[in-house]
Amino acid sequence: MITIKSHREIELMRMAGKIVSDTFKEIAKYLKPGITTNEINEIADQYIRSQGAIPSFLNYEGYPKSVCVSVNDEVVHGIPGSRILRDGDIVSLDMGTIYKGYQGDSAKTFAVGQISPEAQKLIDVTRQCFYEGIKFAKPGYRLHDISYAIQKYAEDHGYSVVRELTGHGIGTEMHEDPSIPNYGKPGTGVRLQKGMTLAIEPMIVMGRRNIRVLDDDWTVVTEDGSLAAHYEHTIAITDTEPQILTL
Ligand code: MF3
Ligand code: CO
Repeated sequence: MITIKSHREIELMRMAGKIVSDTFKEIAKYLKPGITTNEINEIADQYIRSQGAIPSFLNYEGYPKSVCVSVNDEVVHGIPGSRILRDGDIVSLDMGTIYKGYQGDSAKTFAVGQISPEAQKLIDVTRQCFYEGIKFAKPGYRLHDISYAIQKYAEDHGYSVVRELTGHGIGTEMHEDPSIPNYGKPGTGVRLQKGMTLAIEPMIVMGRRNIRVLDDDWTVVTEDGSLAAHYEHTIAITDTEPQILTL
């Protein structure tokens, strides 16, 4: 069941989302070669709590940390630890907060030091996939119009879309209906309505789309070892243009 949020609920989600966005800015100050993924987790956890919010990932289905930190061929759900980030790495940070019972969820891929033009292009195209998708995030369109726009932009650039993982509705729970694939058939799926709040999150890889999960039972990597990027915002459908709540 897809719940429709009131104006008040959307404003609380925007506050949760602002804390996520500010946390990215805080981490960005320290994101340099030599930092460990655990240090990133600590910065995020402390900053989120300093803002009166709760990190939503911690203990979610047993997830042990407050942020997902996924490096290079890791697509999502990398667990922070002693790994040291090196010049030329790309790192996807995914995090969520709960503020007064409402959720915000966002992810971005960052460059560590100087990265290759190929890696930068993957990051840029993945981000643009999100913006291509939300062109259709309004009444009059259907859910998979968003999905198809993401897929088309990624594949037109020679990349692949990970299919096993999707975006999702969000509100008082991190994962609500509907599931939002990053591929699909235009003109299908539920009709979009004002008050729906969605986390749209293209996960795009340079090589083949196949993935596997590491022995830690969380970290998702590309089977062929190719680089992966992630870009996610929580948005609200309105009568007109969608609003991005995680800014
Ligand atoms: N942010 C992920 C999503 O967008 C969820 C992270 S799973 C967790 O769906 F276990 F790490 F919380
Ligand atoms: Co999400």
